Amino acid sequence: MTADSTPFGKHFRLKYFGFDPNYVPLNHGSFGAAPNPVAQRRATEIVELTRNPDKYLRFTIADRLDSALDSVAPYVGLTEKNKNGLVFVSNATVGVNTVLRSFPFASRDAIIYASSTYGACAKTVQFVQSRVGLKSYKVNIEYPFTNKAVVDAYADAIDKAKKESPEGTVVVLFDAVSSQPGCKLPWKELTALCKTKSALSLVDAAHGVGLLTDIDLDTVQPDFFVSNLHKWFFCPGPSALLYVAKQHHPVIQTFPISHSYVPETSISEYPEETLLRDKFRFVGTSDYTTYISTLAAIDFRENVCGGENKIQEYTFKLAREAAALFQREFATESVTALDDSDTTATAMVNVYLPSPSGPLDSDGKIDLGFAADNIQYSLLHKSNVYFPIGVLNGKLYTRLSAQVYLELADFEAGIQAFKKQFAEHESKYSGK
Ligand SMILES: Cc1ncc(COP(=O)(O)O)c(C=O)c1O
Repeated sequence: MTADSTPFGKHFRLKYFGFDPNYVPLNHGSFGAAPNPVAQRRATEIVELTRNPDKYLRFTIADRLDSALDSVAPYVGLTEKNKNGLVFVSNATVGVNTVLRSFPFASRDAIIYASSTYGACAKTVQFVQSRVGLKSYKVNIEYPFTNKAVVDAYADAIDKAKKESPEGTVVVLFDAVSSQPGCKLPWKELTALCKTKSALSLVDAAHGVGLLTDIDLDTVQPDFFVSNLHKWFFCPGPSALLYVAKQHHPVIQTFPISHSYVPETSISEYPEETLLRDKFRFVGTSDYTTYISTLAAIDFRENVCGGENKIQEYTFKLAREAAALFQREFATESVTALDDSDTTATAMVNVYLPSPSGPLDSDGKIDLGFAADNIQYSLLHKSNVYFPIGVLNGKLYTRLSAQVYLELADFEAGIQAFKKQFAEHESKYSGK
């Protein structure tokens, strides 16, 4: 592929992405989107699989998977010495499950997570807690937050866990960028904190590679790191990366356990350097084509988009402009400061929305959850626009996602659609 002269924005979307041309997709953060050339490369893999499944699954994919992992390793800052700690899993939830469900926890151990932890991952913590009988500690994140406040809150939780069970292992789960609201967290400082306090770090970077350009795993050295590829890296879903620090390769097992399981008692019989990759390469009949498409995603990002820095420059700027547009229109605040000191904004930003009317909940207060669901349902089904609407600090807010296939006019269209659906909501529920 050659460098493309089509500017980022709507023309880029129509040329390279398969969205319905009438749909305005302002929610890249949930499911991502694979550009057509990447989807086509995956389709080619499926044709090859279909023509000779035995050859493809028994022989062909192994080298391609290794090549895809080696190629994506620099995007998470892994050089030759640590790249064998990187494997594919199908999504971030599976990555977090893989770690938490294979780590050899005992009842004296603890897991620390946060109020902003993604729901599915918090449930996984709950599951492990009830299975193993260990303790979990929830750190409360309030918005807006400072990085220092977050690091201090985690430090307190680790100290508490260590004090209550000095012999126990503490695993600390935190986001690189949280889901809703979509805020970058001080994940590098938190990893350093875990090292200082002899706790293990599990970084949920579901919004990681493709969004953040400074994921330097060789330097930061978390114990575990999970990043979706299908969200921000333009891979077809499902696809994600799991990084495991070398000392944990013997204990981390695939989810599900499969042919490649190596009991810890027999690891000496296996090559130490490739142990993790050997375990994760084939975990039963599954779709490996999305993983192999990573190679095409890299090609698209480098040769069509012009590289990671160009993508980040465009999307981070567009996100801030979009937030400013929403704030001006609705005279509301941003969830975070959005000035130069704001470290939480990425290509995702969060702004409050106008206050809706009823119906009322059982406490006689306006049911904001209902209003959020009602308006976003109408946005999608009646206006063909989508951005998620949630409730934060007693107000409606949205998380806006910028992407190379969007331009400011798309967010303007989002505003017009919101005004229409909000007005319909008000006409139905005001005074109720
Ligand atoms: C912070 C975070 N963690 C985990 C996930 C789960 O991702 P997946 O559905 O790909 O497993 C998400 C999804 O949005 C997320 O935002």
